[in-house]
Amino acid sequence: MNLFRKKSIDKILASQEESEHGAGLAKHLGVKDLTAFGIAAIIGAGIFSTIGQASADGGPAVIFLFLFTALACSFAAFAYAEFASLIPVSGSAYTYSYVAFGELFAWIIGWALVMEYAIGNVTVAISWSDYFTSLVKNTTPYCVNEWFCLDYFSAQKSYDTVMGMLANNITIDEIRANPAMAKLVEGFDAYAGAPNIFGLRIIMDLPALVINILITALVYRGIKESRNASNLMVIVKIVIVLLVIFVGAFYVNTDNWSPFAPNGVQGLLKGISAVFFAYIGFDAISTTAEECRNPQRDMPRGILYSIIICTILYVAIALVITGMVKYNELAVGDPLAYVFEKIKDISWLSGIIAVSAVVAMASVMLVFQLGQPRIWMSMSRDGLLPPAFAKIHPKFKTPSFSTIFTGILVAVPIFFVDINFVTNICSAGTLFAFCLVCAGVLKLRMNPNAPPSKFKTPFINSKYIMPFLFVLSFVLLYTLGKETFDYYCKWESFSAFKSKIPVYIFIIGFAIFSGMCFKYSFSLIPSLGLVCCFYMLSQLGYENWLYFTIWLIIGLVIYFAYGYRNSKLAQSNFKD
Ligand code: ALA
Repeated sequence: MNLFRKKSIDKILASQEESEHGAGLAKHLGVKDLTAFGIAAIIGAGIFSTIGQASADGGPAVIFLFLFTALACSFAAFAYAEFASLIPVSGSAYTYSYVAFGELFAWIIGWALVMEYAIGNVTVAISWSDYFTSLVKNTTPYCVNEWFCLDYFSAQKSYDTVMGMLANNITIDEIRANPAMAKLVEGFDAYAGAPNIFGLRIIMDLPALVINILITALVYRGIKESRNASNLMVIVKIVIVLLVIFVGAFYVNTDNWSPFAPNGVQGLLKGISAVFFAYIGFDAISTTAEECRNPQRDMPRGILYSIIICTILYVAIALVITGMVKYNELAVGDPLAYVFEKIKDISWLSGIIAVSAVVAMASVMLVFQLGQPRIWMSMSRDGLLPPAFAKIHPKFKTPSFSTIFTGILVAVPIFFVDINFVTNICSAGTLFAFCLVCAGVLKLRMNPNAPPSKFKTPFINSKYIMPFLFVLSFVLLYTLGKETFDYYCKWESFSAFKSKIPVYIFIIGFAIFSGMCFKYSFSLIPSLGLVCCFYMLSQLGYENWLYFTIWLIIGLVIYFAYGYRNSKLAQSNFKD
């Protein structure tokens, strides 16, 4: 049984060239398109929505979290760029792992990426629907029924909670009067007012479903159409983000920046998943490598440019909004619109921001919906998925079956899934993929016969630096974060211990990896990418690790039932 059979890069490229003489994908993308695709994928629900809670928890110091996350993502981006320029085919992290670690890991990563793209799109579709419905409510005389804006289980949960409160003699008027209960009331109204057919209440997030269908249709229609639509949406959102920054800057009251970190490091770390979610997407560019005119030159530039541009915009936005209002007011779902609503002379801007949020999120969906089918297409070409997944539409030149299948996969959870759940799972899958891509570059560079990449991450030896960083983090934690240090050293109960497991795994992993850096003199940048992404993964909590592990186990069952037997590599002309 050979679970670690690897692909050779030369053969992948040769086979791609062969296929291009036949039914290859159309090549329309240049560096500007790739950067635009990156920005299209990055700026979305994160900055328009999740930054609110993160700023309320961390205060203005949330900019440090943005900078840290940007740094971590840039380290990982170097690894993506290096791989993408070496192997410019559609599979992204999946194909890279196939080359670096072999088939089993490739499958695992391909499976994890479903979490990022398809499940990530569930999150974005639900947020899109939230903004869209509140926009309709605020700007038109139409009213959208609550039972058409929510998934079934969230509505049912809210209904049960409110019924419990009513049973405890809290009146419905009291609940309605409390702004912190707005979401709960929405769910209660949806469940209570939904039409009932044969005992089943009809509750569904209709706008989320509709946007998913529209985006799927666009992606099905063609890469050129998708590119044009994406470029247009990027222009709209950059203009709006710049408007927020420049207009908002005039209304900043620097008193609001003090205290700068009101809840310390702990408060900041609460926002890690939300802030990371705001950066997810730059890696999606690499799935379009086959559609680039000059992937070796343009792909690395596109990835890095888009991260740099987004970081500058994010930090500026975070400073502006925490300067316009006090940080603790920002725990809202639409923080950018909210801060402008508060200022009378420019409250009209909040409507424009809401419109642009709708556009921004649609463009994120577009890029993710482009990425997922292309990964499946690569997996299918390798025999790990049935041949239908690799089918290319004869006229539109897009992976037709995979595109429709992605649309269905995004649509189904929209009916019943909770947004926080999908957001965390999406972050977990993505961070896992980033870790493996960073580790993949290290592994590849350990092989003296590895082909030279046209883009190579600058080499800095991590031999002494990584062990030093390991010791330094302990010293810093002990001196500056004594409470946290004590918390992890203390035994309270088994359930408290369980919740700390991801952090313990990180500490052990970091220690072992520092030793490996010392022994093998790894390149510093991918090493830092690995450690930073692993650290963020460890902050996502025990439950998310559990769900993600279950997902991986399901994936392994499918691999052994289908992929392992049908792998083309077994028969093949791909092997090293
Ligand atoms: N970064 C993307 C967003 O914020 C996923 O919507």
